[in-house]
Amino acid sequence: MSSATTNIESLQAEGRIFNPPDEFAEKAHIKSMAELEALRAEAKADPEKFWARFAESELHWFKKWDEVLKWEPPHAQWFVGGKINISYNCLDRHLGTWRRNKAALIWEGEAGETRTLTYQQLHTEVCRFANVLKEMGVAKGDRVALYLPLIPELAISMLACARIGATHSVIFGGFSSSALVDRINDAQCKVVVTADGGYRRGKEVKLKAAVDEALKETPSVETCIVVFRTGSQVHMEAGRDHWWHLLETVNTDCPAEELDSEHPLFILYTSGTTGKPKGILHTTGGYLLQTHLTTKWIFDLKDEDIYWCTADIGWVTGHSYVVYGPLSNGATALMYEGAPNWPQADRFWEIIERHRVNILYTAPTAIRAFIKWGEEWPLKHDLSSLRLLGTVGEPINPEAWMWYHRIIGKEKCPIVDTWWQTETGAIMITPLPGATPTKPGSGTKPFPGIEADVMTRDGKSVGANEGGYLVITKPWPSMLRTIYGDDERYQQQYWSQIPGVYFAGDGARKDQDGYYWIMGRIDDVINVAGHRLGTAEIESALVSHEAVAEAAVVAKPDDLKGSAIVAFVTLEGGRIASDALKEELRQHVAREIGALARPDELRFADALPKTRSGKIMRRLLREIATSGLVAGDVTTLEDFSVLEKLRSEEE
Ligand code: WT7
Repeated sequence: MSSATTNIESLQAEGRIFNPPDEFAEKAHIKSMAELEALRAEAKADPEKFWARFAESELHWFKKWDEVLKWEPPHAQWFVGGKINISYNCLDRHLGTWRRNKAALIWEGEAGETRTLTYQQLHTEVCRFANVLKEMGVAKGDRVALYLPLIPELAISMLACARIGATHSVIFGGFSSSALVDRINDAQCKVVVTADGGYRRGKEVKLKAAVDEALKETPSVETCIVVFRTGSQVHMEAGRDHWWHLLETVNTDCPAEELDSEHPLFILYTSGTTGKPKGILHTTGGYLLQTHLTTKWIFDLKDEDIYWCTADIGWVTGHSYVVYGPLSNGATALMYEGAPNWPQADRFWEIIERHRVNILYTAPTAIRAFIKWGEEWPLKHDLSSLRLLGTVGEPINPEAWMWYHRIIGKEKCPIVDTWWQTETGAIMITPLPGATPTKPGSGTKPFPGIEADVMTRDGKSVGANEGGYLVITKPWPSMLRTIYGDDERYQQQYWSQIPGVYFAGDGARKDQDGYYWIMGRIDDVINVAGHRLGTAEIESALVSHEAVAEAAVVAKPDDLKGSAIVAFVTLEGGRIASDALKEELRQHVAREIGALARPDELRFADALPKTRSGKIMRRLLREIATSGLVAGDVTTLEDFSVLEKLRSEEE
């Protein structure tokens, strides 16, 4: 693709509207704009009644709720008094139907091996492991850390925890042992479930070794359960560590606990504006309702579909749209362990062709990588099974949207660009594929029952096409309930920036048709390849190195990853800047947080530009990082004294 064509195309794309294809709309759950608008109107008139209607018709409750919503701002409780179990909803209720023998999960390992679990088989595995947890002393309300590769045991562990009312905390397998320590200690987890290792681009990621390191500093952990995955040598601590497969004899009879609708289902850590990751707490009934309904309508699930969300379960996308949403709907979900370019750049397309995948949900960063690798890879494969495409995680540029539409969707698959966050639990702004005309780059409008807006800092709605802050103005079922152990921060972070509304942390504008265009984070959070990182976290990792005096981290635009991480570092007296030290510091961040946080660029400076009150001038650093201004030899110190003038402008 020459850059000339690219530009013209993306310009055309901006003004274009893509209507749902008739063949698609006819068979869709929500078939037309009229139907969608009717749902929106119904929800607007009485949101509680709207959500309650679907809670009743779509979910299994042991006992119905007394009150739909208890809203004591900023704390919401949904379906108060109701008794429910998400594991029951994802498994048991399908067992009395023909779906008992339907594939629930089709898993493919990076090396190509596959495992299929029917609903019946998955139920058996979940019950068995739930009994194992009970035997290990895990009781309702206890926290269990899950640090696993993308293998069926991860979904099994989550559902097993949910079954007995233990709260799971999944920690992405790419995080380092010190990230594990922080997260395990914050939630005081009693048990850790891990594996000897996992595979990524043919190499083993040694998970158990990282856990061993972490468990030296996590007094709350009594037990570690280890899945045999790679077969590599691991240390097993007598009395503490147990092989998953040796616990296999435990009985499989484990009725699902009847839990309060507000019972804590999971904690998932995400980056914020301070160095300490936030434990986002989600509960059961409301979370299940919104993940269930969004999965059904947005991915337009049909019983004969194979649905594939490529996210790792370590992120919220995997929680809601690999595990809970699809299984609650009785769908067949594909799980793939490895990298998209292993062994070759066509792995995704090869998987789609071989499994006849119908629905693909992936990230813009992946799409941009596919564009770079060349369209010959997807064109080699029969992708005709696909009928619907989705994206999530960051704004999609119109050019990438068009490529996805043409090369992957063959101009016949609707694209759903879904905006949401770890905190929102489920999709919030999205097209419905059979109803909403789409514009490349826009997530279109809020899901029925969701009330959003774009506001100024002082809480006034802005006009059409004016930029502002994206907010949610009404509580929604799958909203976070708090930050685990820090309710003050919850109130401060989300409900006090603009009093009375939920502050998402994204900039946005609404166009003349009311379509939302997300402009990206407006706080010190960087979105790197769809993964969220706090600049403060990376800075404190850098400063923890003995050679570093001060550090400032900013994002710069990156064609592939959306944003790249640029770190400016000043050294302790006597330390000399060198390429070796630069590399050492980059690796240090990878060790402290995980490889995903490793700075792409690291620059030494004699001092960081600051305002007279001592605040680091990030805007300036962002400009420098982006424009390359004052870039010198990487080993020379940058002299910011030349920026004195700019410095006074900032104040
Ligand atoms: C942030 C949330 C929720 C799934 C994965 C990310 C950005 C997410 C979109 C989209 C533009 C998006 C936002 C948001 N984001 N989806 N469709 N268009 N931006 O979850 O790690 O909690 O990150 O991702 O900036 O605030 P997360």
